[in-house]
Formats: sequence, structure tokens, C-alpha cells
Amino acid sequence: MRKPFIAANWKMNKTVSETGEFLKEFIPVVKDVAAVEIVMAPPFTSLMTAAKSIKGTNIRLASQNVFYEEKGAFTGEISPAMLVDCGCTYVIVGHSERRQYFKETDEIINKKIRASKKNGLGVVFCVGESLEDRESGKTFDILNREIENGLKDTAADNIVVAYEPIWAIGTGRTAAPEQAQEAHAYIRDRISVLYGNKADEFRIIYGGSVTPENVDSLMACSDVDGALVGGASLKVESFTRIVKFKKG
Ligand code: 13P
Repeated sequence: MRKPFIAANWKMNKTVSETGEFLKEFIPVVKDVAAVEIVMAPPFTSLMTAAKSIKGTNIRLASQNVFYEEKGAFTGEISPAMLVDCGCTYVIVGHSERRQYFKETDEIINKKIRASKKNGLGVVFCVGESLEDRESGKTFDILNREIENGLKDTAADNIVVAYEPIWAIGTGRTAAPEQAQEAHAYIRDRISVLYGNKADEFRIIYGGSVTPENVDSLMACSDVDGALVGGASLKVESFTRIVKFKKG
């Protein structure tokens, strides 16, 4: 059985004190949620304070980014070992915002995944097509390319794939459950080509305008194993409702 994985990606939001305030309220309301893996990805500056707050709870910590070198003259970058030292269990790699604004290529993403896994970090690996790709019928080609290149020479363990159609991120335009299911089934099929029967254990989560209103129908899809939540994870009430999604 695949344990549902619900993660908050705060992106460039919340100060250290705002992170503390959120977690003080959030930790007690989700403390009895045992059937879902709950993951928070605050900005780098909030990782330490978040790590202290969630110690001994059912919440895990993720970083939103990482660099692939171990150490050295890479001004502004953070290594996988530094993230482990900060209390991170996971790192998000390949987010479309990093591909788009910071020009991260499949090759860079692959290096980041390999370096993270080498240091024992779990990886939330994001893939997804643009609106233009979808409208010109290239969705599966894009997903195939991103998966093949991103996961090149990596072992199957400790990877969660996040399907995040770019047209659904921050737009309020969620993929319909049938669209999500179709893409997730395709991703699982590609994963089975790479990793054989391990594909059944792979968690494939959906991201893109997930809200309390649509989470139940998305989670009802057989290949949707969780959610990567941006905007709706910034408020305790809405993220709690998403974590406590109702099974169909
Ligand atoms: P939104 O939930 O704000 O659309 O963001 C999704 C996302 O990019 C999560 O990584």
C-alpha cells in the first residue's frame, strides 16, 4: 500500500516568526493523523526553527531546493549534507518555477537528485507540461523526457514523483481528476519501464491549485497518492483540511 503523501510548498513565503506561528497552531490539529505522511517545505531561512518545532511529531521537513556539490566556492548555495544537518528528510527538485526562472535543465535536476539521494535525502521530483505543450498534444512526450532524464542512473528508493501541470500552478485552474489520473497512470507506466515492478510502490502526487474543495476528488483517483500544495498550504485551516482529505 502506498501511504498518502501531502506536502506544503511554501515557496518564497513566511518569515521565521510566521513559520513558528503556523506550526504552533498546525501541529496539535494534525497530531492524530497517522495514515498520511505530512511534509512541510518552508524557505531555507525557516528550516531550523521548523525542525525544532516538529521534533517528535508526525510531520517531516523538506527543503525547496538544493545544490549538487558537496562543498566549496558556490556562493549562495546549500549542500545536501547541510539540509540533512538542518533536519530535512526530503528535498523538492525540478519544480517548474526553478526550471523556468532559474534555468534548471534536466541534467542539473538529475545531478541534484543523485546528490540528494547519496546523502540520504528523499526526493520530491516534479514534472509537468506547459499549456502550450498540452494544447499541441505533447504532454506525454514532455513527461517522458523529464522522467527519463531526471531519473537517469538513480535507484528507485526514496523518490516521490510530483505531477504538476504548469498551467494549473497558482492559476486556480486545477487539472480535472480524469486529467490527473491519465497523467499519473502514464507516469507510473514510465516508472515501470525504469524500475520494473517497483512502480507499484512509487508515490505519484499531484500539484497545481489543490484546495480543500478539490482534494477529495483528486485523491479518489487510483494513481493519485498525495498532493503538493502551494497557496492553500499557507493557511492552517485550508492545509489541515487537505491533510484530512476524505477517502471516496
Ligand atoms: P499552487 O497550489 O499555489 O497552485 O502551487 C502548486 C505548486 O507549485 C506546489 O509545488
